[in-house]
Amino acid sequence: MINRKIKSYYKNLRSKVFLEVFDTISSTNDYLLRKEKNKNKDIKICIAEEQTKGRGRRGKSWISPKFKNIYFSLNSYLKKEDLSGLSIAVALSVSKVLTKINVMSLIKWPNDLLVRNKKICGILIETAKVGELTKVVIGIGINVNMDNSELIDQEWTSIKLEKKQSVDRNSIITEMINQLCITLNKFEQEEFDYFLKKFTSLDLLKDKEFTLKDKPNETFIGKGIDNKGLLIAQNLKDQRIVKFSSGEVSLKLKK
Ligand code: BTN
Repeated sequence: MINRKIKSYYKNLRSKVFLEVFDTISSTNDYLLRKEKNKNKDIKICIAEEQTKGRGRRGKSWISPKFKNIYFSLNSYLKKEDLSGLSIAVALSVSKVLTKINVMSLIKWPNDLLVRNKKICGILIETAKVGELTKVVIGIGINVNMDNSELIDQEWTSIKLEKKQSVDRNSIITEMINQLCITLNKFEQEEFDYFLKKFTSLDLLKDKEFTLKDKPNETFIGKGIDNKGLLIAQNLKDQRIVKFSSGEVSLKLKK
């Protein structure tokens, strides 16, 4: 069970963190997106033991069995205009927490985390303009103790499968919240270069061949990301360099 009293309050942070933990919810992202627009600097977090309508990127669903994994969303208000690199910054913070428990992940641009080429975490970031600020809801699903699910249509793994033992979800969530709060502060203060340097060594697509799901006949090679977080790739056929933005494409690594 997730401890209802998990307190994650990072001392040097400018914001207070408010947590709500639900037994069952449709989607933690939907809950925070619907919540009243409150522009103060508090950070709101919604955690659930189970989601009945968990959502993934590109309209897919996110399988969310009860008591198994981590499903949570964080709501913050950001001043920064350009949020294009936020998904990378968030993926880096999840990867850091996984590294602390000896689970070594790579980031499949823009923000999937994979271990041994199998997905372990998905991130769904949704935004809405509120006056001068942008309301940002960051939803994170981490496969923790799941060891069977017939419903997932892509290769996946979990922390339990990697470590060959069940792990306590409470300590991971607490670390995750602290790390995300630090990352959001840094994201507003620093240029994207700060994150770009950290991303380079975790870039799963670097020098790898991939196709786009809706254009399977063209092959590209990953060439890193630019200083806005766009993916740089080379078209294998005509050698042209192209850039992709995260909303635009869905990628499939070539085996
Ligand atoms: C993806 O890889 O497609 C993104 C998956 C995001 C899943 C998380 S689980 C918590 C939050 N609530 C949702 O409905 N989705 C995100």
